[in-house]
Amino acid sequence: MADGQADRLRRLKQEERRRGNGRKSGWSVGAHRLSVTSGKGGVGKSNYALNTAIVLAGFGQKVLLIDADTNLANLDILLGVRPRYNLSDVFAGDRLMQDVIIQGPGGIDILPGSSGVLEMLELDDQVQRRLLESFAELEKEHDYLIIDTGAGLTQSIVSYVTSSHEVVMVTNPEPTAITDAYSMIKVATHRNPTLRVRLLVNMVSSIEEAAEVFDKLNLVVQNFLNIPIEFLGHLPTDACVAKSVMLQAPFVLKFPRCAAAVAIRMMARKLLQKRPHPPDEEDQTLLERIVRGNPE
Ligand SMILES: Nc1ncnc2c1ncn2[C@@H]1O[C@H](COP(=O)(O)OP(=O)(O)OP(=O)(O)O)[C@@H](O)[C@H]1O
Ligand SMILES: [Mg+2]
Repeated sequence: MADGQADRLRRLKQEERRRGNGRKSGWSVGAHRLSVTSGKGGVGKSNYALNTAIVLAGFGQKVLLIDADTNLANLDILLGVRPRYNLSDVFAGDRLMQDVIIQGPGGIDILPGSSGVLEMLELDDQVQRRLLESFAELEKEHDYLIIDTGAGLTQSIVSYVTSSHEVVMVTNPEPTAITDAYSMIKVATHRNPTLRVRLLVNMVSSIEEAAEVFDKLNLVVQNFLNIPIEFLGHLPTDACVAKSVMLQAPFVLKFPRCAAAVAIRMMARKLLQKRPHPPDEEDQTLLERIVRGNPE
């Protein structure tokens, strides 16, 4: 990003701060960014991201859930909604950022169809600047951005992950999923050494089984990467998840007492308690980071 552009955004943020229009939680401007990703597909990312977003909103956080999954219409299907517009319409100049946001259940906002974010790099400087500013506004209005990425090491997914403050890496106990999670951790932390990595083990029968998966992965990470990763928790294999997918209704709302919903709430509390330091006013927004990290 050009220096002048960065300066202007910084000035906007400082001005905003002086006017006291900070976000609801009292942090400085800019939301906390958490991406949810995995090496292998189909391990439960979208279900985790959607239900966690709703629980965090229930805890008083203003949450924007970004559907950055390359698979067609992932969150749309989980929710049974058909968004009219997506980020590509904004890039094409047909819609404003605010027109694309839809209201999700439990008070969350959703930014649909955001997997093509790197298309932004092809836009001319002026258009890019306008987009960055309107995204900065959006980010300022939220406490949390939860980014549901697809699986694997595509450029767009890696960009989202490395532009986040922390990542929840989802895996199931299958050896292929664990190996792919390792590759993703390696690439992401190489590009962003301050990225906080937490592991969620999905579809297990007990915490012991999940801890075994964590120990296995952590051993390799310590041996070869020597970076800290944390155990966030586990989600049991629970019929309520599949049932809620069929009903197109999030399980934390439809079956709030089921084991998976209890686990989601426990992990969400942990996320809030152990949140990395709030971004300061110099911190860039998600799209700024994506643009800066991909100069070509
Ligand atoms: N804890 C669980 N218990 C039972 N079934 C589960 C659980 N988690 C996920 N599933 C099943 O796995 C399916 C895939 O989940 P989900 O769509 O969340 O995965 P994903 O990682 O987002 O997939 P993709 O990589 O395709 O985006 C769900 O439709 C659900 O049926
Ligand atoms: Mg998904």
